[in-house]
Amino acid sequence: MEVALVPTATAMKRTFHTKGWGGRFACPKANLFFIAAAHTAQAAQWCSPTSLTATKDGAQIYIACATSNQLQIYDTASSRISRTIALPAPASGVALSLKEDQLYVTIPSTKSTVRIIEASSGRPVATIPTAHTTLAPVLSPDGKTLYVVNRFNDEVAVIDLAARKQTTRIPMVREPADAALTPDGKHLIVANALPAGRADKPPIAAEVTIVDTQSLTASAHIVLPNGSTSLRAVRISPDGRHAVVTHSLSRYYLPSTQIERGWIQTNAITLIDVAQSQRLATVLLDEVDRGAANPWGVAWSVDGSTLLVTQAGTHEVSAINFPDLLAKLPDSDPSGDLSFLAGIRRRIPLQGNGPRAIVTTAAHTYVASYFSDTLESIDRSAVASMAARLSPQQVPDQIRKGERLFNDGAISFQGWLSCNSCHSPDARVDALNWDLLNDGIGNPKNAKSLLLAHRTPPAMWHGIRETAEIAVRAGIRNILFTQRPEDDATAIDVFLKSLKPLPSPHLVDGKLSPAAQRGRRIFNDTKVACARCHPAGLYTDLKSYDVGTCGKTDESAQFDTPTLIETWRTGPYLHDGSAATMRDVVTTSNLGDKHGATSHLKPNEIDDLIAYLLSL
Ligand code: HEC
Ligand code: HEC
Repeated sequence: MEVALVPTATAMKRTFHTKGWGGRFACPKANLFFIAAAHTAQAAQWCSPTSLTATKDGAQIYIACATSNQLQIYDTASSRISRTIALPAPASGVALSLKEDQLYVTIPSTKSTVRIIEASSGRPVATIPTAHTTLAPVLSPDGKTLYVVNRFNDEVAVIDLAARKQTTRIPMVREPADAALTPDGKHLIVANALPAGRADKPPIAAEVTIVDTQSLTASAHIVLPNGSTSLRAVRISPDGRHAVVTHSLSRYYLPSTQIERGWIQTNAITLIDVAQSQRLATVLLDEVDRGAANPWGVAWSVDGSTLLVTQAGTHEVSAINFPDLLAKLPDSDPSGDLSFLAGIRRRIPLQGNGPRAIVTTAAHTYVASYFSDTLESIDRSAVASMAARLSPQQVPDQIRKGERLFNDGAISFQGWLSCNSCHSPDARVDALNWDLLNDGIGNPKNAKSLLLAHRTPPAMWHGIRETAEIAVRAGIRNILFTQRPEDDATAIDVFLKSLKPLPSPHLVDGKLSPAAQRGRRIFNDTKVACARCHPAGLYTDLKSYDVGTCGKTDESAQFDTPTLIETWRTGPYLHDGSAATMRDVVTTSNLGDKHGATSHLKPNEIDDLIAYLLSL
């Protein structure tokens, strides 16, 4: 229950749901009554705001909801949600046409669409099919082309709006999460969420891809500093000269013995010089004794003088004086400096929980918080105030509470990180190796996806934790360096157990391709023997084996057989992330045939086996 987890008066002020009945806060009976009432009433749907778009005059803000089938429209003059537009499914983003008479709304799924909607009436005009998990719609300056990313196809798609179809698909590095277009329309800058290579050989870092919109090819790949992962957003300054991308700068190469001073995780923005297609600098948002967990959204004030960054984990916005930041840069490399922003940035606390999307108008900055369903406005004097609630006040169920805690960096010691920092917001991977203490020091392990963790005991690559429940509690204690009530850990368990596998982008109409069908026969062949340890169902027999993958630093050759469900998105592979691709797993990492027998397979059979594995 909401009230039980609010430990201090400060936190209570920040926790939006407790507002207005603080007087009854200490009375258990009143709490029980409140909760019973909330559960008998029809549970209102959460909006979970995920993206904001403002009209040019700043009169209206379009709010895309990740968990309800509607767009909400906030009217800045009357300071209220003035209307909603019904959608067939939740949206991931909205762009406005040049005349602002039409909306381009991305509806993500395995078969996503872009909906063209008449802005005044909400009437659907057209539906354009795209691909797997479409988001980040961006309109060209001439209004003729819409760019989107198809996240799980690892690509940017180009949509011809006159023909109303997707015309070109441009490969990206891995899981593009956001895109922004230069004001002249010549370059699309794309943030790839995750590194793509093996995790045991530095540098390990995600990349920003620059697409030349004339040739429709990637013209540059900018590799971020070693340890950069979890890229969330990218925006370009109003003058078109700089781009900024938010991400974490992980110290994955240090044992996780302490959390102070960014020992495990720092939280950063990287500035890109657009004309040079080069990284200018990576700047830490943290301070010496105060982390800035999970940087997410980014925006410039309309005049370009202030750079605003949401810190989804600490429920704040950092407002940085941008000319001062540029002036400070040439003198030093700020990527390890925890006081670089001193004097040129304000940390603005919000009432909401989980601020992700941010947008600026001439008069204000608007920030939407995902878990509290709130929209706040920030004025010129850097004060945030509640602008609107996006759903009626309600008590989160255990799943939503667990998801919120999983993403909450404010519960960690000094706000340095959240579970999200290594497992992504939806509890998958960051593609890095970490030297956690569960199995001693000096033997880094690749972060595991938590999908099915509770159904596939034991936990951890060496199976050191008997169950995922134990691992969850150990994570709170030994990685977040904090203590929480048992009810919080239980809520995280409930959230993790609720995760559903996402269908693979390698499926064709939801079914195995002909190659994958042939691959399934190879997988099940008793000589090849994959199904012996990875039997269909959970694709693990829950036992440990030596499959010849033991590295120099491993203290034991026995590893717990992992599930293969969703392996299409959990690379790099094996306990030490030493296999960048599935091909590596079944070829170069299995030279002795100890991990199933693959050396006798012909090249086309290897291809088929890979097609099957990537379809699970
Ligand atoms: C610093 C990065 C990091 C953070 C933060 C982190 N984890 Fe992990 N987690 C890992 C790595 C790496 C592994 C695999 C370690 C191993 O197998 O030895 C792992 C494994 C797990 C597992 C076991 C999964 C399985 O099926 O074997 C669970 C459960 C888990 N983490 C939950 C959490 C929770 C809950 C939080 C937040 C309280 C959290 N983690 C925070 C890096 C992290
Ligand atoms: C004797 C049991 C056994 C057999 C047979 C076996 N595996 Fe595995 N598999 C394991 C174990 C144990 C691991 C973990 C090894 C490690 O992390 O170093 C693993 C890991 C994997 C992974 C990496 C998953 C990840 O998330 O990193 C893939 C993919 C995989 N196996 C596929 C296969 C295929 C394909 C075959 C048949 C050619 C096969 N396995 C045969 C036990 C087995």
